[in-house]
Amino acid sequence: MFVVGSGAKHLEDELRKLGGEVIDAEIKKFPDGEKYVRVLGSADEVTVVQSTFRPQDEHLVELILLGDALRESGVETLRAVVPYLAYSRQDRVTKDGEPVSVRAVMRALGIYYDELYVFDLHNPETLKFFPGKAINVSPARAIAEYFGDKLGEGIVLAPDKGARGRAKAVAEKLGLEFSHFEKERISPTEVRMRPVDVDVAGRNVLIVDDIISTGGTMIKAANLLREMGAGKVFVAATHGVFAEGAIERVGKAVDELAVTNTIPTPVSRISIVPDMLRL
Ligand code: R5P
Repeated sequence: MFVVGSGAKHLEDELRKLGGEVIDAEIKKFPDGEKYVRVLGSADEVTVVQSTFRPQDEHLVELILLGDALRESGVETLRAVVPYLAYSRQDRVTKDGEPVSVRAVMRALGIYYDELYVFDLHNPETLKFFPGKAINVSPARAIAEYFGDKLGEGIVLAPDKGARGRAKAVAEKLGLEFSHFEKERISPTEVRMRPVDVDVAGRNVLIVDDIISTGGTMIKAANLLREMGAGKVFVAATHGVFAEGAIERVGKAVDELAVTNTIPTPVSRISIVPDMLRL
């Protein structure tokens, strides 16, 4: 049984269509801006689906309130599926006095939820901060299915070494080659980025990352691929966080841009709902 928060309303129709049973919930705001939630049913095992994109704090508070309401109604096993987890990039202290924000969020969720499923967490090591069972779910199958036919005998690339695992996961589903971009020092003053150990000339390329924010990373990689004579350049990411104008900027630089629907955007064309139902 699922309960769908307002940050996951865009997934509800597909969830129901694919057989997910949903317990309705009333979610609204008091005149002063505080959230009100009321879950209209219960079960022994319940999964709350709530993505925590902007307004992040509201979506997070709602997830906590839904957890409290469901515990109150006697749920025994409570799961949170959080397609996009806010604060996941704040995973270390860089200046004295800062929190490890992702730890704070995970601990707060751990008060109510037994299990946490997050899609493509920025730093999967941070799952250790959740006190119960915590799983990082890969959208590789969905991304591979979406771009598979368009790629031909192409290559899957990660924009940096840290994202190589993502490119590998997508490439392996398609039986394609994969690699990552690396910085190469050409002279004491010049650094060049290039994909390592692969020849992109004349071949279609899919660049895969976890997040697109300003789009700078993807545009730089796409421009380099063009200079190197690549065929079509496709860009995929799990989370389209998109700063203002980023969709248009990336869209202009590549042949196609598509992200998953962990966050609803005009280019959220790849659905994670089938994966959610397999959890
Ligand atoms: C960085 O660690 C992330 O994996 C993404 O590469 C980054 O957030 C992309 O940001 P932008 O779109 O602003 O280049």
